[in-house]
Amino acid sequence: MELKSACRMFLFPVQMLYYIVRASLFSLLPSRRKDLTKEVILITGGGRGIGRHLAKEFAKQGARKVILWGRTEKCLKETAEEISLSGTECHYFLCDVANREEVYKQAMVVREKVGDVTILVNNAAVVHGKSLMDSDDDSLLKSQHINAMGQFWTTKAFLPRMLELQHGHVVCINSILSQSAIPGAIDYCTSKAASLAFMESLTLGLLDCPGVGCTTVLPFHTNTEMFQGLRVRFPQLFPPLKPEVVAQRTVDAVRAEKAFLYLPWTMHALVILKRACPRSPHTPQNSCWKWVCVTGPLGCLQQGLEAVKSRPLQPWTAPPLSQSQRGKDLNLE
Ligand SMILES: NC(=O)c1ccc[n+]([C@@H]2O[C@H](COP(=O)([O-])OP(=O)(O)OC[C@H]3O[C@@H](n4cnc5c(N)ncnc54)[C@H](OP(=O)(O)O)[C@@H]3O)[C@@H](O)[C@H]2O)c1
Repeated sequence: MELKSACRMFLFPVQMLYYIVRASLFSLLPSRRKDLTKEVILITGGGRGIGRHLAKEFAKQGARKVILWGRTEKCLKETAEEISLSGTECHYFLCDVANREEVYKQAMVVREKVGDVTILVNNAAVVHGKSLMDSDDDSLLKSQHINAMGQFWTTKAFLPRMLELQHGHVVCINSILSQSAIPGAIDYCTSKAASLAFMESLTLGLLDCPGVGCTTVLPFHTNTEMFQGLRVRFPQLFPPLKPEVVAQRTVDAVRAEKAFLYLPWTMHALVILKRACPRSPHTPQNSCWKWVCVTGPLGCLQQGLEAVKSRPLQPWTAPPLSQSQRGKDLNLE
């Protein structure tokens, strides 16, 4: 072996240790917080649930303008009115994030009517909570199109301008289920895992782009309509999060330019525990993995998914696979 590559091999663990210690020390220091007074923030699914609380929190913390996207006009209008009354300029637009033509079209409308979006919050998602064989094909497609692909279209629509301005932030409200899947919500977990990979890739890709960053939030079960009726197995140990707390911690993470946020932090420890469990199927060792993911702390969501299944969902048809006009319409390429 060449001397040079032997030295590199020796240096690798030393470098790794150096970066871990450095990052740990820096995380103890108070970080400089981003000022939101010049920020124009667009939140997908901003009419209700966590998205609504995010809109209110961004407004409370000084955002210049807030834009809400969603499919249900009533709740978008109500949220926009509440935010406007509190003194922050707020606009809403009907947009299905799964439909890329609609996303690109509405992105242009937003740019013309409101201005350049500097913080994009990808929050919209759906769940239908069934196993693979119990799910109809359209429901499986729907969750992938909305929860995973929707982010591709919104990010492609707004990121180029952020890069031009050298100023911007992409936020993703993901889920702890992206790191620890449960069997009864196979489509949701798959879409969230895809969305996490998307964010990891994007975050790394933007490291060399000055002024543009990312934040991915991975919350545990939160009290909103999405998992309404869900019973958690150890409510005292892992109480459901309040959407306003998720919103407040998210805005704090964006202001501190934090790349990943687990809510609550204990979930991070559980994910590490899950990874450490032996995973050979059909052996006694497997029982550890099964305990953590299905019967134990991370699987506690599984207990109550029956209630989620019975919730009626908004009808949806897959968007047509037509040629995109994005490049031409937005004049970004
Ligand atoms: N609740 C939880 O336990 C939990 C836990 C971890 C992570 N999360 C994540 O947090 C985010 C917000 O969830 P939530 O709990 O606030 O759920 P929610 O109350 O059901 O809200 C979902 C939002 O997404 C919007 N939406 C759904 N499909 C859309 C589409 N095709 N285009 C545009 N908007 C769409 C909905 O508005 P319209 O229906 O009007 O379009 C709604 O505003 C999601 O990404 C979810 O995965 C939730």
